[in-house]
Amino acid sequence: MPEVRFNVLGRVALVTGGSSGIGRAIALGLAGIGIQVGVADKDADGLASATAAIQSRGSRAYGLVADVAQFADVQRMVDEVSERLGPIDILVNCAGIFPRSPVAEMAEAEWDRVLATNLKGVFLTSRAVLPAMIARKHGRIVSITSGLAITGSSRGAHYTASKGAIDAFTRSLAKEVADNGINVNAIAPGLTDTPMMRGANSAEYIAAVAKTMPGGRLGQPEDVVGLVLFLVSEGAKDITGQVIVFRG
Ligand SMILES: NC(=O)c1ccc[n+]([C@@H]2O[C@H](COP(=O)([O-])OP(=O)(O)OC[C@H]3O[C@@H](n4cnc5c(N)ncnc54)[C@H](O)[C@@H]3O)[C@@H](O)[C@H]2O)c1
Repeated sequence: MPEVRFNVLGRVALVTGGSSGIGRAIALGLAGIGIQVGVADKDADGLASATAAIQSRGSRAYGLVADVAQFADVQRMVDEVSERLGPIDILVNCAGIFPRSPVAEMAEAEWDRVLATNLKGVFLTSRAVLPAMIARKHGRIVSITSGLAITGSSRGAHYTASKGAIDAFTRSLAKEVADNGINVNAIAPGLTDTPMMRGANSAEYIAAVAKTMPGGRLGQPEDVVGLVLFLVSEGAKDITGQVIVFRG
């Protein structure tokens, strides 16, 4: 029987949105199994705390302030992580925002900001890491999307549109790079206790949804880590183009 390998020791990952919530948990989880992690985020204070937490556990981490919606920032972030830690094997796209507005009153600037951060950020960052992955015939891309893309969310049309587009992007990119040893997947977590989620929803709504979730409890950022670790391992090499709904 062929051996299935889960060892990812020494690989290099880049996690966007790693200062807070789900991205921070993923960055810590990757570091915990011996992956060197570049952590990128707009929020410098959160970034310093996340990288310090990784380093305090004895793992290598490099934090950099960057805006995933800006081409120059994204290129710099990929160049710096590659120089400091080595070529990027794993990209986790986690940076995202979720302001609330009804479409009838939504400012064009808010629509643009959500699409630029949530969707264009995934495109720019994927594009920046792909040439080296293709050259090395190995790579893993995981994007954090949302089940709200399927169910819809009142006062969240820009957010759900951006996440639905990530799902389509994931399926298309997976086909493009399947012959290069690169898998591309997305994870759609259910309601998860993070600053973004608390800012976007009322306490009543959160309590009502939590009751419908597995175990009758709200998701925690750490819940998603195990699935990410699996998707970036060799064991998942033939799983690609999937949007995996998780605790939804
Ligand atoms: N929390 C949930 O219930 C939930 C559910 C489904 C999907 N998600 C998705 O998970 C991801 C993480 O969200 P979270 O809930 O952990 O929120 P969070 O606010 O705790 O973390 C998001 C991080 O992204 C960073 N960020 C925002 N814009 C950025 C930009 N332009 N460039 C770089 N960094 C930027 C923020 O500074 C923050 O650190 C998001 O993509 C979100 O849409 C969250």
